[in-house]
Amino acid sequence: MDRLTLKRPDDWHLHLRDGPEMAAVLADTARRFARAIVMPNLNPPLTTTQQALDYRQRILAARPHGSDFEPLMTLYLTDDTPPEEIARAKLSGHVHGVKLYPAGATTHSGAGVTRISRCFHALERMQDLGLPLLVHGESTDPAVDVFDRERAFIEETLGPLMERFPALKVVLEHITTRDAVHYVEVTGPNLAATITAHHLLMNRNALFMGGIRPHHYCLPVLKREEHREALVEAATSGNPKFFLGTDSAPHPRGAKEAACGCAGIYTAHAGIELYAIAFEEAGALDKLEGFAAEFGARFYGLPGNRDRITLAREEWTVPARVAFGSGELVPLRAGETIPWKLI
Ligand code: NCD
Ligand code: ZN
Repeated sequence: MDRLTLKRPDDWHLHLRDGPEMAAVLADTARRFARAIVMPNLNPPLTTTQQALDYRQRILAARPHGSDFEPLMTLYLTDDTPPEEIARAKLSGHVHGVKLYPAGATTHSGAGVTRISRCFHALERMQDLGLPLLVHGESTDPAVDVFDRERAFIEETLGPLMERFPALKVVLEHITTRDAVHYVEVTGPNLAATITAHHLLMNRNALFMGGIRPHHYCLPVLKREEHREALVEAATSGNPKFFLGTDSAPHPRGAKEAACGCAGIYTAHAGIELYAIAFEEAGALDKLEGFAAEFGARFYGLPGNRDRITLAREEWTVPARVAFGSGELVPLRAGETIPWKLI
């Protein structure tokens, strides 16, 4: 197959940052994707509908000329998010989910939730209004091994939460383990999951190939090969509970190549091409369209995209660096070739 034509995909988990950094990365996403669920973990976080709507305007204003890319906004859940704010968010028509960051779990999660019981009133309102909860599913207990944090979160927090709010729509984001795949498969239709390209393409060995590789560090951290295989099986299964979310998370080079490097991998420069590589390796290119362009919209209750994109089998070399505000970032597979090219 020399050409792959798909309905235009959507990205159901994306970090765009703000200001000149956003302007630098937005075009990569807007070229490939029709819409994206944009994460609210700015500094300070987007805890109100008004902040999310203002951010939306800044994104719209930074779109490349002629682009009709549509940012789908989210709210950052805190211990104190009032149910009235949930109602305002839903009413706005532009907020499509509320993000749960357990406090301290990842980049800019300091204002996140310290105890989920503090959010029960907000969650109840979300359940009533059909506004999805988007979950960074990792335990923040420092005693839990970093590779076990997703499983611990599912057992200790998500399981009880789904029982307490059985009709709440939940997206378990960027899943990384066989345990998460299994949990999503056996739980009701109101639970779905996104999967990143980097978790489909790499296992935890990629963190230590010949030395420590800060550009392969993200959260949840890469896992063992058996977990990667379970993710590939889920993504290529045709099960609509699993759909695309790049979690493209740009950071300046210096913040990654540091004594305490931050978490996040930039993948928007090849946001659909990287998935095509993973699906082709699995012999499942025919399953890419559902995963990338159909299942997510269906879960979020949004219309499907009408237009199409085409990937040609044509090698191109990923640049070693990409401009990022006043600095630069290092994209995934920097300096390496990618066999699919967006035309
Ligand atoms: C994300 C970021 O940099 O904002 N980092 C990451 O490793 N994925 C935050 C997140 O989604 O956990
Ligand atoms: Zn993320």
